[in-house]
Amino acid sequence: MFLALALAAAAIACQAAEPVLKFNDKGELARPADYREWVFLTAGLGMTYGPNAPRAGQPAPFSNVFVNPDSYREFMQTGKWPNGTMFILEIRSALENVSINNGGRTQGDVVAVEASVKDTTRFPDGGWAYFGFDDRGGLKPAAAPFPRTASCYSCHSKNAAVEWSFTQFYPLQFDVAKRLGTVRADYDPNRKLEQ
Ligand code: HEC
Repeated sequence: MFLALALAAAAIACQAAEPVLKFNDKGELARPADYREWVFLTAGLGMTYGPNAPRAGQPAPFSNVFVNPDSYREFMQTGKWPNGTMFILEIRSALENVSINNGGRTQGDVVAVEASVKDTTRFPDGGWAYFGFDDRGGLKPAAAPFPRTASCYSCHSKNAAVEWSFTQFYPLQFDVAKRLGTVRADYDPNRKLEQ
């Protein structure tokens, strides 16, 4: 009996130790299959910047942001995203008049899945890296980081409020960052992007 319990506890401990960031030997990040069970941070509707541009003639999409649960818990204590953090940005189409709905919009199919990770050992130049899992007609199981020259890096490193994460758009987390003093000193809420 005791042994069975001990083994069960060890199995749970092993599961917990499974890393969130899994890289293959080509340096590609595995797309997490279970990110829909992670912590939901926010849904943006029709945000217009880089990866959120709507398809021609379509209503502007939703963007859903998730973060891995361990990093969420640590952030809520410290106001900082720890090494090993992964965010998923899931873009979904916006639908009108589905079923009984006559106004407003509801979420449709996945249009894109992107990720950012914090790993200061693997990515010493700033600590963050950006990935896109989009493939023609589906999603790839793993993706190489976008090159350092991609717009992801410049927009996030210049305009995000907590390190390179757009925590200013995640209401609970932004309150925590303000309370714990981890908002970047150069964050300016009035700054807009040049068109
Ligand atoms: C012009 C600025 C801009 C560019 C370029 C950009 N992003 Fe973002 N990104 C944002 C904003 C704004 C958010 C907040 C989204 C929300 O609240 O729904 C965001 C959020 C994210 C998140 C959620 C975690 C976080 O950092 O807050 C991921 C992941 C992400 N972007 C990936 C990418 C990738 C990959 C690229 C490059 C292919 C990219 N982004 C390019 C502005 C940008």
